[in-house]
Parts: sequence; structure tokens; C-alpha cells
Amino acid sequence: MSDQLDTLLSEQRRFSPASTFAADANGTPALYESAARDREAFWAEQAGTLEWIRPWDRVLDWTPPHAKWFVGGKLNVAANCLDRHLTGPLRNTAALVWEGEPGDRRVLTYWDLAREVRRAANALKQLGVRKGDRVAIYLPMVPEAAMAMLACARIGAVHSVIFGGFSAESVRDRVNDAKARVLITADGGYRRGQVVPLKRMADQAMAEAPSIEHCIVVQRRPGSPGDESFATMKEGRDHWWHRLLDSVSSESEPEAMDAEDLLFILYTSGTTGKPKGIVHTTGGYLTQVAATTKYVFDLKPADVFWCTADIGWVTGHSYVVYGPLANGATVFMYEGAPDWPERDRFWSLVETHGVTILYTAPTAIRAFMKWGTDHPARHDLSTLRLLGSVGEPINPEAWMWYQAHIGGGRCPIVDTWWQTETGGIMITPLPGVTTTKPGSATIPFPGIVAELVNDAGTVLPQGGGFLTLAAPWPGMLRTIYGDDARYQETYWSRFPGRYFAGDGAKVDEDGYWWILGRVDDVLNVAGHRIGTMEVESALVEHPAVAEAAVVGKSHDLKGQALAAFVTLKDSHQPSAGLKDDLKAHVAQKIGAIARPDDIFFSADLPKTRSGKIMRRLLKDIAEGRALGDTTTLADPAVVSRLKDTYESQEA
Ligand code: WTA
Repeated sequence: MSDQLDTLLSEQRRFSPASTFAADANGTPALYESAARDREAFWAEQAGTLEWIRPWDRVLDWTPPHAKWFVGGKLNVAANCLDRHLTGPLRNTAALVWEGEPGDRRVLTYWDLAREVRRAANALKQLGVRKGDRVAIYLPMVPEAAMAMLACARIGAVHSVIFGGFSAESVRDRVNDAKARVLITADGGYRRGQVVPLKRMADQAMAEAPSIEHCIVVQRRPGSPGDESFATMKEGRDHWWHRLLDSVSSESEPEAMDAEDLLFILYTSGTTGKPKGIVHTTGGYLTQVAATTKYVFDLKPADVFWCTADIGWVTGHSYVVYGPLANGATVFMYEGAPDWPERDRFWSLVETHGVTILYTAPTAIRAFMKWGTDHPARHDLSTLRLLGSVGEPINPEAWMWYQAHIGGGRCPIVDTWWQTETGGIMITPLPGVTTTKPGSATIPFPGIVAELVNDAGTVLPQGGGFLTLAAPWPGMLRTIYGDDARYQETYWSRFPGRYFAGDGAKVDEDGYWWILGRVDDVLNVAGHRIGTMEVESALVEHPAVAEAAVVGKSHDLKGQALAAFVTLKDSHQPSAGLKDDLKAHVAQKIGAIARPDDIFFSADLPKTRSGKIMRRLLKDIAEGRALGDTTTLADPAVVSRLKDTYESQEA
């Protein structure tokens, strides 16, 4: 981290907004001024751009650490994203432009999408789903994923979207935690030319998920109409999406939801072995995602907005579905991998669909850099006018490459810091307003109060420290599903009265934020959050493993990669075969994203006298650094032994 800090400190480049962009930008300096004058009034003004069934009585009730926004107000998220656009020209405008990995395409106008969502809402109702019930969604990136979310929102059901790359066991645990009544999945999804058998995994999950009463299956495999053989359907429980929707009417009234009614639960990794169900509610969340989409992405009617995140992550929720549709945008959605069939797939998609705004992750940008400039250079990318980055710190070289080779030197870059917990963007430039510095997420969005604190919780005007949020914001998580004590402990106990984000950061002399990454036991692997404890729990469930410690190791493309130190039971011997076995075991338990890059066998693990594994030391070893202070160790000899074996195994 100190190397990283040095590089960032020496970053002197500045990019001030082009006057042509600024002249027409949605964002203005006045937004910051009005939010600084009266934060609640600013957010109320943003909320006022939505359609409310009943106005709110109070903007905010704040009983730390519990916030209620737009108290007493009633609205429906799906009606805001769809119905209200149907009376004007948006009715016949593309809401979703989609391309599947095999190249199949669909375009849904706002009218089309609204009709499908109403039918899906009625289908859910017909299966007995009521307001407040939980519905799990385990789908590839197909239009039905957005429809399913919006259908839940329409009837007041709470969705829990589970990333399609997660394993059956991860699905089971999430479904059980939320006690979902319905699971929506697909026969499969395409990834690098292969079909990911989602329904088969869903079947395994449902075998141990007693709350599931019904499963709805989207038929995804193109070119095989009527071929339903890929998924085995269980009579009475399983229903084809297309048949179910054909059997219901397309009339449905949106449910009047309280501003604080649950909209969704989204599981994310924390510092224990058990993922946290992050709870988001209706009015505040929609207000923040709608406002940030409008100002950060500068959306205009002619734009084609492509956020490359999967719907299984918060970025997909807020900036593929809710934020853009609330703004009446045209959203482009792509199902598959960026290197399929060739490494220019993204650029071919930008050219084909005339994408104007691209929002992606540094890990992808670093892969594109490695693949070379020929791929983007072969395509006409002149429609692009704004680029975004999210999910992890973007290194200045990647920022500069993105700016030059994708943005043609003319597109502003918005590096946006936020989290599953924050619901929407928190620290970001406003294009046309904010001067950017490569590698810095710049300054808090209007109405957001971010403060840097030291270990003792003292606020620092600049320097290095921890990123905290000192005032509630509309899109904030309300709690952890079913575990409010964990909510209070995780986010509000380290620095009383403040939300602790878990990130280390630096603030420079201009007040610009440079996010340095997680300071807790959460890793960021290729932009995905993975808890070290989750991977450790998966490893120790393997019959050969006695103990395991997992650390993050710097990685050129992924940002961080997983390195696991494993001690075996006496009955097992280290071998290359066992390493492969353990990697496959983790992938099967959690999902391929958690597969460790390296596994090292070791006779002991370094522990403090109180028995805590010293992960920091392991990280030093994994990254080949000189060892830090080992005086608190129970047995310092363990470390030098470990370092020796590590180096010999690595060679
Ligand atoms: C990291 C994704 C630096 C950070 C929206 C945070 C970032 C975690 C940035 C949340 C950024 C996200 N610069 N780091 N622009 N954006 N992060 O919940 O460590 O999947 O805590 O939300 O990603 O990841 P999550």
C-alpha cells in the first residue's frame, strides 16, 4: 500500500472540464452550493423529481444508526421506472437494447418493457407472492433479469439477486437466509461459448431450501425453441417464464409502497464467513440512484448508456436498472464475456449499438491494456462521450490509457467510489464541473458528507486515514437482513456516530479523495468483494484441511488475487493434485470468483499469543516482502519456516 501511496502522491496531472461539455452538462457548481446550504432540502428536491403516490411528511428521521428518509411518503419504483414514461415520447423509445453472447439481439421500448413487467408481476401474484415476500433471482444478463426485479418492485416483493457465477451452495445459503418463496432462474446462460447450467445449480440449491415454493425458469438458449430438455422441470414447483406470462393479463396496478418498505436485499461479503444481506428501501434509494445517474452520467435523451456490471452486483442494480430507467434512458445490456469470440467484443458492441456512455471496472481496463490497443483501434468509438470507472481503485496508468485509447482523449472520466451498502455513488467528479486527477475519485457528491479520520476517530482535513460518512444519505443501507446487531457492530462501532466504510483513503490539499482499498478482511478480486473468512471456511470443509488462512496478494490485472496458506491433517500429504483439488473445492463451495490463485502448504500458521492468525504477515510473505514486526507472535520461528517453504514452493 505504501508504494501505491507514493505513486498517487506524485500524480500531478489535471484534466479540467472542456467548455463544450460544461456548457451542456446536467451538473452545475450550484448543486454543491445548494446541498451545502441545506442538505435535506437538496435531497428533497431530488426526491421531488420522482412520482409520489403520497408526499412525505418529513425528509429525514435520524436515530443513529437508523435513518428513515421521506417519512410517510408512498411511491412505486417500477411505476417510476416505467409507467410514468409511457405518456410521452419515451413510450416508443428503447428502454433496453440487449445483445446475447452468441450475438442474438433484442430491443424493448418503454412500452414493451412495461408490458412484460406487468405480466411478470401478475405471474408472481398468481403464484401467491405478496407484498413483503422475498423472491430470489438467479439469472444471466438477459432482459428478464431486469423484468424480474421490476416485477418484484411493482408488487412490493423484495428481490434478492444472486450473481449467476455463484455456486449452488451460495445460492442455497442466500435463499435460506432470506427465506425466499420463489426462485427465478434460467435454463442456462452463455459465458465464453459455454452454457452455464443455472437451472441445474438452482435444483441443487432448492433441494436444501425449504422456503421455496415455486421456481420460474427463463428459456434462454437461443435457436432451440420448444427444446426444454436442458432444464428438468419439477411438476407443480417449476414453471416456464414464457408460459406463465402467456397465461396472465398485462394489466396490473403498482403497489403503493411506503418510502421505507424494503426494495431489495443484496448479499455481500464481510469479515465473517457469512455474507451479509444488505437491506435497501424504496424512496431514498430511488432518489439517490436517480439523482446520481442524472448528474454523474450526464444522461441525455440521445444517449445509449452501458454499465458493464452484472445485475448480480449492486452496480447492476443501481446503474443498469433503477437509476437509468428512472431517468428514461436507453440502457444497453450485454450477456457475455469481453473476450468472446474475440478480445474486441466490447468495442464491437460500442460501435454496433452507438454506445455514448461506458461505465466499467478497472480490472477490465487493465485487461484491455494488456490485450493491446489494436482491438479498440479497429472500431469506431466516436459515439463515446463519457467514461466511468467503479469497483476498485483505478491506477493512474489505467486511467490515462482509458482516456486516450477508449475515450479518444475527448471523454471526461468519472471515477466513482461507493459500495453495496451506500446504494448509490458517493464520491465522484461531476462531468463538466469537476477537474479530475487520474486515480482520484475526487470529491463527495452534493449532499454527501465524507470525512477522513485517524485511528482515534479524529477528523483529518487531509492526509491518510479511514473513509467515514458523517451524515446519513438517502440510499444508505437500513440494516443487515435479520441481524441488526451485526449492522451496528460492522458499520457504526469502530468510530461511534460515523459510518465506517472499511476503506483506507488519502485526502490531498485540494480535498480530493484517493481511495486506497479495504483495510478489513475483505478482498477486492477483479472488482468483486470476497471475505477471507468465507474462503477459509470453504477450505476447512475439505477433508484434508486442518486450518487455512487466506490473504490478498497484489495482482496486475485483478488488483488482488487470493493466496491461501493451508495446514493439512496428519493423514494427508501435500501434492500438486491436492492443490488443484482445493481450488476446485472452493469454486464449488462459493463460485469461480473465489478460486484461490495460489495455495501453499505449511506445517503451522503464524498466530498471535491470543491465537489470532496474523494475516498481515502472511500477506508480506505472499508478496515477497521483508517481514514486519513479529514480536507479538506466539512462535516467531513459524514465520521464518513458513517464508522458506513458501519461497521453495513458489519456485
Ligand atoms: C471498492 C461496488 C476505489 C471499495 C460499487 C469499496 C472502490 C468496495 C471504488 C465496494 C472506486 C468501489 N475507487 N475503490 N471508485 N469503487 N471501490 O460493495 O473498496 O461491490 O469498499 O460496491 O469497492 O464494493 P461493492
